[in-house]
Amino acid sequence: MESRGLRPLMAVVIWWWWLISPAVSDPQTNLLNQGCSTYNVTNLSDFYTNLNATFSDLETQLNDNKLFATANRTRSGDSVYAMVQCRNYMSAEDCLACFADAQSLIRSCGAANGARVIYDGCFLRYESNSFYDQTTLAGNAAICGNDTASQVTAFQSAVEGLIADLEVATPRINGFYAAYKMEVVGGGGATVYGVAQCVETASQTACQDCLQVANSNINSCLPSKNGRAIDAGCFLRYSDVAFFADNQTTNITPFLQKGGSNKKKAIIGGVVGGVGLALIVVVLLLWYRSSRKAKPASTGDLLGVTELQGPVNYSYSDLKSATMMFREENKLGEGGFGDVYKGHLKNGKMVAVKKLFIGQTDRAKANFESEVKLISNVHHRNLIRLLGCCSKKSELLLVYEYMANSSLDKFLFGEKRGSLNWKQRFNIIVGIARGLAYLHEEFHVCIIHRDIKPSNVLLDDDFQPKIADFGLARLLPEDQSHVSTKFAGTLGYTAPEYAIHGQLSEKADTYSYGVVVLEIISGQRCNEMKIEPVTEFLLERAWKLYENDNHLKLVDESLDPEEYDAEEVKKIIEIALLCTQSSASMRPTMSEVVVMLYSKDALQHGTPTRPTFISSNNRAGGDTSPSTWDAASNATASFSGVSGR
Ligand SMILES: *[C@@H]1O[C@H](CO)[C@@H](O)[C@H](O)[C@H]1NC(C)=O
Ligand SMILES: *[C@@H]1O[C@H](CO)[C@@H](O)[C@H](O)[C@H]1NC(C)=O
Ligand SMILES: *[C@@H]1O[C@H](CO)[C@@H](O)[C@H](O)[C@H]1NC(C)=O
Ligand SMILES: *[C@@H]1O[C@H](CO)[C@@H](O)[C@H](O)[C@H]1NC(C)=O
Ligand SMILES: *[C@@H]1O[C@H](CO)[C@@H](O)[C@H](O)[C@H]1NC(C)=O
Ligand SMILES: *[C@@H]1O[C@H](CO)[C@@H](O)[C@H](O)[C@H]1NC(C)=O
Repeated sequence: MESRGLRPLMAVVIWWWWLISPAVSDPQTNLLNQGCSTYNVTNLSDFYTNLNATFSDLETQLNDNKLFATANRTRSGDSVYAMVQCRNYMSAEDCLACFADAQSLIRSCGAANGARVIYDGCFLRYESNSFYDQTTLAGNAAICGNDTASQVTAFQSAVEGLIADLEVATPRINGFYAAYKMEVVGGGGATVYGVAQCVETASQTACQDCLQVANSNINSCLPSKNGRAIDAGCFLRYSDVAFFADNQTTNITPFLQKGGSNKKKAIIGGVVGGVGLALIVVVLLLWYRSSRKAKPASTGDLLGVTELQGPVNYSYSDLKSATMMFREENKLGEGGFGDVYKGHLKNGKMVAVKKLFIGQTDRAKANFESEVKLISNVHHRNLIRLLGCCSKKSELLLVYEYMANSSLDKFLFGEKRGSLNWKQRFNIIVGIARGLAYLHEEFHVCIIHRDIKPSNVLLDDDFQPKIADFGLARLLPEDQSHVSTKFAGTLGYTAPEYAIHGQLSEKADTYSYGVVVLEIISGQRCNEMKIEPVTEFLLERAWKLYENDNHLKLVDESLDPEEYDAEEVKKIIEIALLCTQSSASMRPTMSEVVVMLYSKDALQHGTPTRPTFISSNNRAGGDTSPSTWDAASNATASFSGVSGR
């Protein structure tokens, strides 16, 4: 009777699956990997009975609309443990078809104690003992397509961002699966697609670890147009063409937030938690008392409170009165995205208020809110804190912490020229590198600044640098972002591949950073000619002095030679030249820069190659030895042999 009641339900479910499956059914049986253990079973008839029984168990579960199943038969000596998993974008029919193919192929192993077949759409594996909690095993590999993407840098950075997001989000999602796509910024409307999946029997930590390995494997595929990483317990794939239906994308954004079960954070949380909790309670009490009168417009810089609150919504009238109606004399500067005003909130706190110039479409507003949320989560001592925002009809305002010492350009070229000593300059050089390394590599979304220059580096009371204006480029309408940021990017600081071809990656920031370092050392503006003895821009001049081993001639004359170590300054000039190399792929990442700045020895990145501004087609990507299918299948022996000895 019960089964009769289930029938209509089944029909609905099947109909539903049919609805969301891609129009043309495709079991995706492109073979990625196959392996058999070499050990024979002891009793053939027992073995096959067990094998057939587990496979039919698996099939029953798939028929029940499952996309992941395990089954075992341990009767008599030759036990069989089996597992099947389809990618969740597969329809029930496609999943069954994929499984059927895998089953017939895996039988070609004969009476092996263990075997495995991995397709794009599904995988099937069995062993003579339980392997359900296995995730990463020797034999994990990347399988790369052999066509290279055209917009190498832009494509590469999009894929890296996509995969990094999938790596973070997937272990936090129930079922350990996510499909996601991302637009290639500066890629002429191109999109990249990705899927990540762990076996459902893995622990969350094991899934994280497995995807981490998979991520580093799949990275070796770039700049191939597509790649897969396979392992015992997880799967990762990206492609420049869609391999799942558009409406199958997972909303991974909620799983990218901080405070997930990232191991590092959990440990820090554990240590800070004990002391922090007591402190936060006290602070909250104080804050509560003081906030009963003043509106919570001011978050105060009390530890904990701002962290807990997230971005504050300021009222427009408060900001208007804080900046004295955005009066001209309160103006601190004009940035690429809007004018900045000094503001004095009612509670006495100073803030910097930025009036954005960006468009007023609904989309811009929607982006504004999500970007503000994102940027306000960026906490690093070398990055300006976004305190909150205000959006009122046609106006979008951002409220930042206020830096009394204004920006680096004033100290290098402006009224305070020559007042920074070497130690301060060195700290600024290191601080900017740290801030950028955080934006590129440590924050959960890779944020490329695109407009690093001294006027975007603010100095706090201790002359520690704080980078401003990050994340804002993402607010520009997508169809415009490339063109208008090229516009906004200050020529002289802009990497050639970005300025000329619009190829954007974090290495564009590395380039700008290198130029800024040369400015900090020389006190010369990058786009100002020096008239002695020939007229040269800063970068050319630095390069020629370096070639003639005469680096120190570049150093700002206002610096006391007693103050600095000549070898250290030479090393930093060379690091700057590594950053401004014309090939983006040869430039170091910002975290590598931080390491080099502190290392005593010769540069690990070898000697800089010549910077070029006009050079066009640098083959970024360098040595891309695409792993072939053969190489991948050679690597499998150890993968399947686990069950035997
Ligand atoms: C998903 O997209 C397919 C086309 O790719 C379409 O046929 C189907 O109706 C969509 N399903 C849902 C639930 O939106
Ligand atoms: C395994 O079985 C195959 C036939 O099924 C046989 O040819 C082979 O010799 C056996 N190998 C071992 C190590 O017993
Ligand atoms: C295999 O096991 C079955 C019972 O499980 C038994 O009847 C048969 O004789 C065994 N075969 C061999 C070759 O040992
Ligand atoms: C197991 O299944 C295969 C294929 O379905 C069949 O050829 C074989 O006879 C079965 N063996 C046993 C012992 O049931
Ligand atoms: C083997 O299957 C039985 C049910 O058929 C299940 O209870 C048991 O947990 C399974 N063993 C493992 C290791 O999964
Ligand atoms: C690699 O390229 C060759 C020739 O262009 C093609 O036949 C082959 O299928 C490609 N292999 C893969 C894995 O894409």
